[in-house]
Amino acid sequence: MIKKSLIILTVMIFAAGTLFAGGAQESGAADPGSLTFYAGLQEDHAAMIAEEFEAATGIKTEFVRMSSGEILARLKAEKDNMTASVWYGGPIDGIVAADQEGIIEHYVSPEAVNIREGFKDPNGVWTGIYIGYLGFVGNKAILAEKGLAMPTSWADFLKPEYNQEIVVAHPGSSGTAYTMLATLVQIMGEDQAMEYFKKFSPQVRQYTKSGTAPGRMAGLGETTVGITFLHDAIKYKKEGYSDIIISAPAEGTGYEIGGVALLKGGPDQENAKKFIDWVLTKDVQEMGKTVGSFQFLTNKDALPPEEAMPIKDTKLINYDFQWAGENKQRLVERFSVETSTTAPTE
Ligand code: F6P
Repeated sequence: MIKKSLIILTVMIFAAGTLFAGGAQESGAADPGSLTFYAGLQEDHAAMIAEEFEAATGIKTEFVRMSSGEILARLKAEKDNMTASVWYGGPIDGIVAADQEGIIEHYVSPEAVNIREGFKDPNGVWTGIYIGYLGFVGNKAILAEKGLAMPTSWADFLKPEYNQEIVVAHPGSSGTAYTMLATLVQIMGEDQAMEYFKKFSPQVRQYTKSGTAPGRMAGLGETTVGITFLHDAIKYKKEGYSDIIISAPAEGTGYEIGGVALLKGGPDQENAKKFIDWVLTKDVQEMGKTVGSFQFLTNKDALPPEEAMPIKDTKLINYDFQWAGENKQRLVERFSVETSTTAPTE
C-alpha cells in the first residue's frame, strides 16, 4: 500500500514538474521580443504608433525620430552593426538611396495587396504609407505688416521683397527639402535649377534641419514665409497657429510618398515584418489623423483626412521617385557646393 502511494506521489510530482516545465517553456516561447524603428515622420505620430503596436502585439517597441537625411547617414554608419530593423516614414527617395547602399532587405508584405498601385515597389524595397504635397506656408499677419503677398510660384522667391524672409530645411538633412531640390531639377533641368538655387539661397534667412520647422516658425511669427509639406502647415494651423496661410506653386509641385522598409541585418527581423504588415493596414493608416498627421493615405480602403481636402487639387508634377533616390547624394552635394551651405546639425 505504502509502495503504491509512493508510486502515485512520484507520478504526480513528475506530472506537475512536466506541467510546470511546459508552462515555463510556453511563456518563454511566447515572449514577443522587441523592435526598434527609425521614424522619419512627426515625433507624436511615431510615439503613438510605437505605443499602439506594443499594445497590440506585446512587442517592446522603441523608436528614434530623425529627418530623412539623418536616417540615411546613420544607417550608412551602422551598416555592419544595425541597431534598428525598420525605416518608418519619410519620403521614399531616402529609402531608394539606402537601397543603393545595400542597406534595405526587400520585403513584399502580404498587406501590400491593399496598397494602391503606384504607391509600392514591386520588389519590396519600400511600401508607401502616405502621400504629401510640397507647398508654401506664410504668416498672414506678418505678410500684411510688411505689405507682402503670399508667394504663389517658385519664381516669387527670387523677388527682392522676399530677401531674408524665407525659411526652408536643408536637403542634406531633410526629406522635405530634398523633395524641393529634386522637384526643381525635374521642372527646370539640373543646371537651370542650380542657377535658381544660387539666387534663392541668399534670400533664405535660415536653413533648418527638419522639414516641418518652417511651418511651426511661420505659425510662431519667426518667419514670414517658408517651404514645407502642406499637411504640416495644416497641422500647425489646427494646433492654434491661426495666422498660418498656405499656397501651392503655379508651376506645379513635387510630392512625397512616405514609405516603410525593412532594414538588412536589423536585430528583430520577424517583429519588423509584423510591424510593416501592421502599419500598412487601413486602421493603422487612419490613426495618423488622431495626432494631426494629415497626409493622403495609400491603403485603398483608408479614408483620407478631411483636413487634407482643401489641397486635394494641388497641381503636381510627375515626380520620378526612383531617379530622385538614385541621384540624392549627388544632387545634395551639388546643391551644397553651389549654394555654399551645409545641413545644420541642431
Ligand atoms: O511627418 C511629417 C513629415 O512632413 C512627413 O510627411 C515627411 O515624410 C517627413 O515629415 C519629412 O521630414 P524631414 O523633412 O524632416 O525629413
